[in-house]
Amino acid sequence: MKFTQYLKKQLEGIRKQNLYRERIILSENVIDFSSNDYLGLKDCYQTKKKLCENIENLSVGSGASALVSGYTEIQRELEEFIAKFKESEACIVVGSGYLANTGLIQAISTEEDVIFSDQFNHASIIDGVRLSRAKKVIYRHNDMNDLEDKLKSNPTTGNRFIITDGVFSMEGDIVNFKELKFLADKYNAVVIIDDAHSTGILGKGKGTVFQFNFKPDENIIQMGTLSKAVGSYGAFICGTRDLIEFLINRMRTQIFSTALSPVQNFLSLENLKVMIKEPFRREKVLKNAKYVAEKLNELGYNVSYKGTPILSLILGTEEKALKFRDRLLEKGIFIQAIRPPTVPEGSSRLRITLSYNHGEDEINLLLERFKELRDIS
Ligand SMILES: Cc1ncc(COP(=O)(O)O)c(C=O)c1O
Repeated sequence: MKFTQYLKKQLEGIRKQNLYRERIILSENVIDFSSNDYLGLKDCYQTKKKLCENIENLSVGSGASALVSGYTEIQRELEEFIAKFKESEACIVVGSGYLANTGLIQAISTEEDVIFSDQFNHASIIDGVRLSRAKKVIYRHNDMNDLEDKLKSNPTTGNRFIITDGVFSMEGDIVNFKELKFLADKYNAVVIIDDAHSTGILGKGKGTVFQFNFKPDENIIQMGTLSKAVGSYGAFICGTRDLIEFLINRMRTQIFSTALSPVQNFLSLENLKVMIKEPFRREKVLKNAKYVAEKLNELGYNVSYKGTPILSLILGTEEKALKFRDRLLEKGIFIQAIRPPTVPEGSSRLRITLSYNHGEDEINLLLERFKELRDIS
């Protein structure tokens, strides 16, 4: 079969299974309840203004990878700022969360190691584990008994890594970090915590470790993104100075990829400052998420508030999730239907996310639309 025919056939199959995906540009009058811009910072006015004032001194691109000549003063400033914020010795900023996870996991693990990974971890973690030569052990979602059984039954002379999302991106729930850290200490494992969705939300914005009243130690690696609550782009890894030096030397996704542009790093830094200065953003979005979950429950939808701005309404089939999405869109509300392979078979859903920018009217409209669609089947 020719390659062009192969592609056509594959696309046909994807469509038949209701798994076809396309990119859409939302029109101005549609209200977006799908964004990860939890704190409403992606259009932060103060930051835009600062950018205009400083644009003359900022390059649009970095020109090279960080190890060649793309490392800049603004990136160093951003890394120092994040390290301080995360109470860590050092920090490295890289192009994206995907690059951070795949690069980190591959760089630090060897064939003698064992990686314990939550069943619902993000694809970037899954791909990082695939790239690694370590043994891979998947434990049931947030199930600390299962994790302990697997730690016991997988001894190693190498290192052990436990990798988990802090806030699970599709469920909206929070890792049981207290138990997980206890097990990591008991079984001498290093914890990698992915704070992509926890940054700006948990632990007064500082992330999962702080939510559970721990302090970063040498067995905790904190990763996070600048693209979600921070409203910019890029990602960071925080840990000991030795870890960061090692990553500078060994992490292929930062060695062989162009450094973030100074403009982007400037925007991340300014948005982080606003995020820290304005805790009311976080307080409001969490209050609204709780309110929406309660109201949806009253309407008969099975949604629960889990302490994050992510509400997961599991509908089952892809068809039902798409129908819901399309009907809501006709009525001016956008909530993306999340389908396999992003979520397990049979758990297609609407992932409703709240943002600081949603006003009372928008939230009321959302609830009104859900009321009208109650009987969709
Ligand atoms: C838990 C988690 N980790 C990592 C990433 C990847 O981050 P980025 O979008 O910056 O590549 C995401 C993004 O969706 C995520 O949800």
